[in-house]
Amino acid sequence: QSENVIKVGVLTVSDSCYRKKAKDLSGAVLKHLIDDEQLLYGTVSEYTIVPDEVETIKKKLVEWSDEKKLDLILTTGGTGFAPRDVTPEATKAVLEKEALGMTVAMLKGSLDITPLAMLSRLVCGIRGSTLIINLPGSKKASEECFRLALPGIPHAIDLIQ
Ligand code: MTE
Repeated sequence: QSENVIKVGVLTVSDSCYRKKAKDLSGAVLKHLIDDEQLLYGTVSEYTIVPDEVETIKKKLVEWSDEKKLDLILTTGGTGFAPRDVTPEATKAVLEKEALGMTVAMLKGSLDITPLAMLSRLVCGIRGSTLIINLPGSKKASEECFRLALPGIPHAIDLIQ
């Protein structure tokens, strides 16, 4: 896999972005870090915005894993404590294995930046040959957490092939 370009999907989970009431700054920064800054040897081949609905999120994660065969899906948003925050529940429902170490790495690094990191319920794991990583919703938090997960991503993708 190392020689191959990592195929990435960026899934923004946000009612307000979906309704075009807000700009998707987090999705944009993740695309920028991958496609322009080349933090990963990868390319964003799928990008979409979905509302905070469990079934809609699950459907997109399954489609991108099982049909599009993406190597990596980054979700951004919906990891908090608000009633509509259901991204971790949707993610857990489709995962075959959880990757607690990646979650801990992001939370540990994030807690060094802000105690409010305790308010993200993000999860990570594997479905088939796809690594799925939840990131929080703000532009700042999604970039910070992506950078914290980054050191583990290429080797993780090698291992799940
Ligand atoms: N993690 C990092 N690294 N940096 C941050 O600024 N913000 C936190 C947390 N994780 C933050 C962070 C805050 S304020 C919230 S409410 C939660 O992520 C959940 O965000 P979400 O509901 O947009 O996913």
